[in-house]
Amino acid sequence: MLNRIPPSLLAEVLSSISAGGSRDDILNGICRKLRSSVPHYDWVGFYIVDPDQPRTLILGPYDGAPTEHTVIPFGKGICGQSALMEQPLIVDSVSDESNYLACSIDVQSEIVIPVLKNDSYVAQLDIDSHTPGAFRMEDEEFLSAICSAVSDIF
Ligand code: SME
Repeated sequence: MLNRIPPSLLAEVLSSISAGGSRDDILNGICRKLRSSVPHYDWVGFYIVDPDQPRTLILGPYDGAPTEHTVIPFGKGICGQSALMEQPLIVDSVSDESNYLACSIDVQSEIVIPVLKNDSYVAQLDIDSHTPGAFRMEDEEFLSAICSAVSDIF
């Protein structure tokens, strides 16, 4: 499948970060842009490490269906596992994963990419897909480039 991720999208997202504005506005804009531009991105959101409650993720800006998982302890679900290991995670089939927090029965696969600031895990970009095995190395590389630029606004 060619052009799963539009070639100009990375430059557009990076320029939206350098254009400035409030952190929430920038993150909201990224979520909307990614979800509307990439067909296999069905839910796009940021979880942010709570400065007042260590080892806890709080739901930040997102685009997609509302989720009940607004507070996630490190270690819990795919998001919490990524935070605990400080690693990107790709899950091809969420129904095969025992440590998973379901947001919707439509979700089939998921990717989580860390946002690191001075080697500290400060946030993560979480994307759900209704397509099984939707995420590949090109998604990980593309989203890692975005998360690396996003760390400038933390
Ligand atoms: N599925 C995630 C929870 C967040 S929702 O996908 C929005 C998890 O297992 O951590």
